[in-house]
Amino acid sequence: MCGIVGYIGFRDASDVIIKGLKRLEYRGYDSAGIAILNGDVKVRKGKGKVINLENMLIESGIKGNVGIGHTRWATHGEPNDVNAHPHWDGKHNFALVHNGIIENYDALKKELTKKGHIFDGETDTEVLAHLIEEIELVGKVDFETAVQMALKQVDGTYGIAIVNKHEKDKIIVARKGSPLLLGIGEDEVFIASDASPIIEYTNKVVYLDDDEMAIISRDGYQVKTISNIELTKEVHELEMSIEQIEKGGYPHFMLKEIHEQSVTIADCMRGRLLPDQNKIVLGGIERVLDRLTNAKRLIIAACGTSWHAGLVGEYLFEYISKLPVEVEYASEFRYRDPLIGPEDVMLVISQSGETADTLAAIREARKRGALVIGICNVVGSTIARETDAGIYTHAGPEIGVASTKAFTAQVTVLSMMAILLGQRRKVLSETDAAAMIKALHEIPGKVAEIMEKKEEIDQISRLFAYAPNFLYLGRSYNFPVALEGALKLKEISYIHAEGYPAAEMKHGPIALIDEYMPVVVIAVTDHTNEKIISNIEEVRARKGRIIAITTENNHDVRNLAEYCITIPETHDVLTPLLTVIPLQILSYQIAVYRKCNVDQPRNLAKSVTVE
Ligand code: AGP
Ligand code: GLU
Repeated sequence: MCGIVGYIGFRDASDVIIKGLKRLEYRGYDSAGIAILNGDVKVRKGKGKVINLENMLIESGIKGNVGIGHTRWATHGEPNDVNAHPHWDGKHNFALVHNGIIENYDALKKELTKKGHIFDGETDTEVLAHLIEEIELVGKVDFETAVQMALKQVDGTYGIAIVNKHEKDKIIVARKGSPLLLGIGEDEVFIASDASPIIEYTNKVVYLDDDEMAIISRDGYQVKTISNIELTKEVHELEMSIEQIEKGGYPHFMLKEIHEQSVTIADCMRGRLLPDQNKIVLGGIERVLDRLTNAKRLIIAACGTSWHAGLVGEYLFEYISKLPVEVEYASEFRYRDPLIGPEDVMLVISQSGETADTLAAIREARKRGALVIGICNVVGSTIARETDAGIYTHAGPEIGVASTKAFTAQVTVLSMMAILLGQRRKVLSETDAAAMIKALHEIPGKVAEIMEKKEEIDQISRLFAYAPNFLYLGRSYNFPVALEGALKLKEISYIHAEGYPAAEMKHGPIALIDEYMPVVVIAVTDHTNEKIISNIEEVRARKGRIIAITTENNHDVRNLAEYCITIPETHDVLTPLLTVIPLQILSYQIAVYRKCNVDQPRNLAKSVTVE
């Protein structure tokens, strides 16, 4: 899941690479390293964040116009100096950075060891470097051919970049399963795992696809398959701006992204939700709308927060569109020999569009004849390109590792899809559709109202910042929000938290409740109100500390809860778009009080490109 940056041109390569790696640090921050080509290949690398590498480089004074860099999320081998990328071949002729996993590294390593190769560390990546070296040496082939031959021998995934001291002014990159793109400038070419490191230099990008490689020089690039068939690739123009990927005065990206939600939800609906005409237009799925309308079943696959959005989607599609839905962990889907066929539609949800588990689910579903539709945030991402049709969430770059604005944008898309399908399947009356469309249109203003309560939520956060455990309860549409609230807290504050359907509490978790246990209950005024009031009573009877997320007029809940955060009223089906906001703020503020690294929580990476 690490980040790769490369540069060839007229600028100081280490400057471009360090800046770029800082932008990609959300993808991993176990160690960082760089290789600069200037006559020789000079490598500097070490454990820890990019800032350490930057200091190392200042001391070394290494300069050059060609180089590659890496920020690691360790899969094989502990995060230490030796396992940091770039990795050398045995003779230190070339250096290689890698994103992904070489699954057959162990067998290859044993063979190479027999042939006399000596390895410095434990990574799978180093094995690939030695394999290339071995093939070049024994096969007496040129370096590029050796890279191609080696890649054909590896199982697993890779995005790689290599500089070689005998191949002046050249970078070789290749991809299978891990993202890589080229940024095309005037007399310079950039390489990166995503567009954020290159956006300040150029908006012209070429996305590499699986089994493709590129030979990059100062004045251009040549893309071919790893079987050496030359390709002409489309050059895409990016619309991302530099402001979107900077903190804009906020102390953390996560806070900036929480604040942005009134705008990002509106952006997501722009041109799609037409309240005057009581209509929803979703251009990206227009082509497949008949097949979707007539689908027998919808299978939603996703991971993490996107999976929680999928669970909200299940309630929405079943209630509004009367369409049977199953929600799957993408990581489990293909190992179950799933029963899915041409009459089914799979809907995948992914912020990054690069999640390896989700991609594997897509490939499995397509193999079995299902139509696959994507809901993605990152434009041009692998998932966006591999699905049959899709809807972008248009939330803008999400940098904080804990997903916030992507979730609300995903739920907004799901709400629009459910209403549109309800209308097309003739199961939703025009009056009900109108009420939902109007309510959806009003959501951004209501999100802004909740943001005004931030200080109030901060006070509550301070009181519970040192609780060892948290329980989150919700029912119906807000059960997935309880899961999401618990995930947010675990991810960034390392407090153990669990989300449950409120009624399930009595089947086990109730045993955990005592006077030290904060219980966050999402209790809006809907058809579950009375039941959830009983659940609150059950917690109170055991002295649990109730923090309720409820609506202004819900006096019963307000009277029972120890602390209350109120949200504006909205249509029942849309409440997740509001109830999740205070939970995001609560977890953010608790993490700040606990002095945790909010944007880069330990062990996590933003884009999980390994299975
Ligand atoms: C959310 O806060 C997480 N960091 C994580 O669960 C994430 O939602 C998951 O990895 C899926 O990512 P995706 O949406 O980019 O596919
Ligand atoms: N497998 C490589 C390692 O452990 C790369 C990991 C990654 O993609 O982050 O170093």
